[in-house]
Amino acid sequence: MVAPENLDLVVQVRVLTGQFYMSNFRSIILAAGRGTRMKSEVPKVLHKVCGKPVIDYVLDITRNLRSLKTYVVVGHGSQKVKDAVGDGVQFVRQDRLLGTADAVNRCAAYLKGYKGTILVLCGDTPVLSKDIVASLLRQHVRSKASATVLTAHMDNPQGYGRIVRFDQGPIRAIREQKDASDNEVKIKEINAGAYCFNSKEIFEILKKVRLNSGKKEFYLTDVIELLLAQGKKVATFTARDGSAALGVNTREDLAQAQAIIRQRILSKHMLSGVTVIDPLTTFIEAGVIIGRDTVIYPMTIIHSDVRIGKNCSIGPMARLRPGTRISDGVEIGNFTEVSRTTIGPGVFQKHFSFLGDATVGQGANIGAGVVTANFDGVNKNKTSIGPRAFIGSDAILVAPNKIGAGAIVGAGSVVAKGKNIPAGMLAVGVPARVIKKINKGKK
Ligand code: UD1
Ligand code: CA
Repeated sequence: MVAPENLDLVVQVRVLTGQFYMSNFRSIILAAGRGTRMKSEVPKVLHKVCGKPVIDYVLDITRNLRSLKTYVVVGHGSQKVKDAVGDGVQFVRQDRLLGTADAVNRCAAYLKGYKGTILVLCGDTPVLSKDIVASLLRQHVRSKASATVLTAHMDNPQGYGRIVRFDQGPIRAIREQKDASDNEVKIKEINAGAYCFNSKEIFEILKKVRLNSGKKEFYLTDVIELLLAQGKKVATFTARDGSAALGVNTREDLAQAQAIIRQRILSKHMLSGVTVIDPLTTFIEAGVIIGRDTVIYPMTIIHSDVRIGKNCSIGPMARLRPGTRISDGVEIGNFTEVSRTTIGPGVFQKHFSFLGDATVGQGANIGAGVVTANFDGVNKNKTSIGPRAFIGSDAILVAPNKIGAGAIVGAGSVVAKGKNIPAGMLAVGVPARVIKKINKGKK
């Protein structure tokens, strides 16, 4: 075991010996802002993109790159943000929202003894990828700069800080749009809001940042000019894909982020062997697992926390909601909804029906129009459908109830609340009554 205080040292040794040499970094994620432009009661970083909070995408980056420690600066709606983010990070409070420089500065006390790279990310940039941030870190370590800024080119740089460069090319300043001259506003290279800093220098230079008179905030972006004025080296790394820098400030930005991440998710599934007939009308949220050779038909929505096996056929026009588990070789057809339900192998649920809080055994058949009436107005109740059971068209199963293995529920029947249909029996009517044992082969 290595004592925690020696951990950074161990990583430094690994750095020197060439094992994952960029791992010696700690991260700060800025997430205290008010998000005024969202016009929302929900803190900005908790708005969802493809079913997942915006800040989770940023946390995925620091987690995947093995940040030694991650500090999340919280302020506006702090309790909600803390609850959503959960364990594994250090929360740092910013009581008065005095700007991005002040937000980073709140972490000073926590990072006093730390020597190494500090990665700063904004909690509102969900499109940013792990690969780009890894390149930023690598570039920072290689160039031995005091600070390295991630930049990107945007056709419409509206609202972003502009990268002002010297004639020869090096960065000279980051100019916020509000403070930019007419010429500077035309610049299409922007500050993506991701930076690497040298831990020894950043907190010293932050002391020198002056209040921006227009916005009454301390801008983190001002440290670039301050470092250069002290003769320090500032580098940039430019992302090839401009859209990666998208910051979510408005609902329109949110929709744009959604469109980009949706494409990414669809590509990932297609590359791993899933047929998506029409990516334009298929919505798959983050955190969905789909097996090979499964075909997703158009106009289908698959929410987070859904798992689908191999060789399934889903849709068209199906909606699979969180907590759904579908085994191999299952057909979920048109106008079907499935929620918090586990479906065994080879089940057919082919036409307009709803399964909620149910388990369905192997080889069962769910007829057209079947509904599990899972909600009694107070509680969600469970339905259990045994293997090879056959639920006739338009049957309503009022939960809780249990349909035994191989049982048949006749078309149009209503299985009353609390009723169990024993295995191998035929039940029909409203309310459904067991009328006979099923002779195998004859119905
Ligand atoms: C910021 C940058 C801008 C850059 C853009 C990239 C500054 C001054 N400007 O602008 O150059 O192009 O990001 O997306 O840094 N926050 C706090 N505490 C505060 C203020 C903000 O934690 O007091 C957090 C916010 O929650 C947000 C992040 O910092 O996650 C950025 O703040 P935001 O107000 O969105 O800055 P932008 O105007 O987008
Ligand atoms: Ca922003």
